[in-house]
Amino acid sequence: MQLTDSHGRTINYLRLSVTDRCNMRCFYCMPKEGIVNKGHGAVLRYEELLLIAETAVGLGIEKIRITGGEPLVRSGIIGFLEKLALIPGLRHLALTTNGLLLEKLATDLHTAGVQRLNVSLDSLQPQIFSSITRGGDLQRVLAGLDAAEQAGFPPPKLNCVIMRGINDGEILDFVEMTRTRGNSIRFIEYMPAMKEADWQRYSIPGEEILQRIAAHHTLETIDKGPYAGPSRDFRIPGAQGSIGIITAVSGHFCSECNRIRVTSTGQAKGCLFSDERTDLMPWLRPPDRVGLAEVLKGIVSSKPERHDISQAGYTHKNFTMSQVGG
Ligand code: GTP
Ligand code: 5AD
Ligand code: SF4
Repeated sequence: MQLTDSHGRTINYLRLSVTDRCNMRCFYCMPKEGIVNKGHGAVLRYEELLLIAETAVGLGIEKIRITGGEPLVRSGIIGFLEKLALIPGLRHLALTTNGLLLEKLATDLHTAGVQRLNVSLDSLQPQIFSSITRGGDLQRVLAGLDAAEQAGFPPPKLNCVIMRGINDGEILDFVEMTRTRGNSIRFIEYMPAMKEADWQRYSIPGEEILQRIAAHHTLETIDKGPYAGPSRDFRIPGAQGSIGIITAVSGHFCSECNRIRVTSTGQAKGCLFSDERTDLMPWLRPPDRVGLAEVLKGIVSSKPERHDISQAGYTHKNFTMSQVGG
């Protein structure tokens, strides 16, 4: 079965957030004080998340990426992933993490059936890392990357949100990691989720990032596979890892969008930046598989054609990225 939206795009990828809590406080993602905890019962139980996943796979979703907040802070996550990995028809199970708990959990994640990890890493300088994440410990994340490989994962893909004047001096250091460590790195344009005043001051278009790299290195283009995300990927000849740019603001990858999202409180979204969301609770409590399948199909068919963050006069409601999972 294949899911197609009204713009002719094949939708085969679900981003499923299991919590909006996090053990870091990246300033572009969460307010300093964190977010107000949802009342007991607002967060979906694992069996409800599993029902969503099974229903989505039954409709044509082939790849699920588990996101947060930070997914590894939710207790019972390993048991949940084990069940998820067994869903017939699910071809790819991936997880995006900040890496802090990877040293402890990498082996369990691998045994549970997670195939790939993406790890957020915005700086290789301990102090800059700590300042962006408001207290995060770079050494623990680097130890987590090592632990992931020791556990049998391919080198995790690294996500680096590039911000002018903050970490843009490290672009070439990250690029070097594609040769020395074999990790792939994706440079992400800073997105104005919380609509901070003057957010454009941080913005560096992906094209500028590429030019800065191309001034020092030859870059080969890499073709994307059918489950690929929004990243446009390149490689320095001979390097094991690739270099990608995710032009979340300036780019036009919406025409290739392949995904829907469900948050940890059961809000389904057809587009990261759309204010439209559908509450799945009525089909989860009590469970109604048939009704849930119809609602998910509706979310796919009503996916907007594109976001318009870069348009003049653009507005969206504030949201913390940690509640949606990126
Ligand atoms: P792969 O499955 O490895 O391709 O991962 P991915 O890039 O889809 O997921 P990841 O969780 O690593 O997200 C990387 C960055 O891309 C994050 O900053 C996300 O917020 C951003 N991103 C993912 N999907 C979308 C999208 O549909 N629109 C926009 N604007 N940004 C997105
Ligand atoms: N802009 C760009 N990327 C963001 N992420 C979270 N918030 C933002 C933002 N405002 C990224 C994180 C993580 C991924 C899931 O989303 O760095 O790697
Ligand atoms: Fe936590 Fe990731 Fe958000 Fe940082 S970007 S606060 S690590 S959820």
